[in-house]
Amino acid sequence: MFKTEFIKLKQNGITKTAFQRLGDPDVIPLWFGEGDLATPSLIRDEAKIALDSGETFYGHTRGKAELRAAILNYVQSIYNVDIKDERITVPGSSMSAITLACQMTLSKSDHALIVSPHWPNIDRAIQVTGAEYSCVRQLQTKNGWQLVIEDVRKSVRKNTRAIYINSPSNPTGWVMSREQQNELLEFCRSRQITIIADEVYHRTTYGINVAPSFLEIASETDPLIVVNGFSKAYAMTGWRLGWMITPASISEQMATLSECYNTSAPAFIQRAGIKALAEGENIITELRDNYAIGRDIVMEKLGNHPLIQLTTPTGAFYAFPKIIGLSSSEEFANSLLQKENVGVAPGYTFGPGNDEHIRLCFAQSHTKLKEALERIVKHVEFCLQ
Ligand SMILES: Cc1ncc(COP(=O)(O)O)c(C=O)c1O
Repeated sequence: MFKTEFIKLKQNGITKTAFQRLGDPDVIPLWFGEGDLATPSLIRDEAKIALDSGETFYGHTRGKAELRAAILNYVQSIYNVDIKDERITVPGSSMSAITLACQMTLSKSDHALIVSPHWPNIDRAIQVTGAEYSCVRQLQTKNGWQLVIEDVRKSVRKNTRAIYINSPSNPTGWVMSREQQNELLEFCRSRQITIIADEVYHRTTYGINVAPSFLEIASETDPLIVVNGFSKAYAMTGWRLGWMITPASISEQMATLSECYNTSAPAFIQRAGIKALAEGENIITELRDNYAIGRDIVMEKLGNHPLIQLTTPTGAFYAFPKIIGLSSSEEFANSLLQKENVGVAPGYTFGPGNDEHIRLCFAQSHTKLKEALERIVKHVEFCLQ
């Protein structure tokens, strides 16, 4: 009655851990990819105005023309590239955009390659298309996480139709260099493999204002889908608003697919997005200055511990430490939750080879973060010494 790929869907390790104690005030939650501050009032107020003025109707299936124009302006201002309006679709969240990207590129007999460690929703989105997938893992070195492009080349199969790559990376904090983007794009161009570039952490960067984007080097006909959104840059995780940039030639199909999905994002939420893009630069800077302090706190507490291997993340707001000798990240996350009331995501859920890791989000109030880290260290020592 239901297709096999669907029946085989498994809850990911983040929600599997978090749903045990979700909303429990005794727990310090570092499991999800979000901070603990509500969206700034500049953006909230704009949504209220839009609601009060009756923005409650259906709209264009690729998103409001004003929002698409605001995205074009924003892209132009941060990357200095001109994108045609036909290339933009606002289907709802960035997650929706990734799901649509998988549907656009993958069928049952295809293969997708995921640059890993990766956010677990990605393999689920691929799995339901019926395609198979495998992972090519970044390496954790003394100088940080690194991707070897030769490993990517070697992992590609005859039937590989898409490569998913997320930079800055959740969970490793790795930021892809321009040189590697050029190399990968050239390879994918020659093999007609679509790059699904997930750039949602493009402004969660330290020391640079914006991470390199594939948009800066690709032509409009390249096999490239760039996904981006508002959740991380503007603390708008609950709004479910993101966009995708695709080749112009499939504008009609994108409008149709988006219509099947959610008929684009809700109208009043799109209005808030326009405000964020037009006036939200200070918000981005303030948030990331705050995350940078969180990152320093993490490095101070975990960076030199003899049982922990961790290099400073260069982007996003996660630490993905290796706990040397850990045999099950799931057991560790569960016992940390029960004994120490701290919620983290177990490493196993981020793809093969990560069961000695845990992921924690440091976009949290600094006092709580310090307390949580002390308890994590205590638990590491309890479990492994
Ligand atoms: C790598 C990555 N891509 C996409 C998303 C989804 O973002 P959105 O909230 O816009 O759906 C997340 C959210 O955590 C993420 O970590």
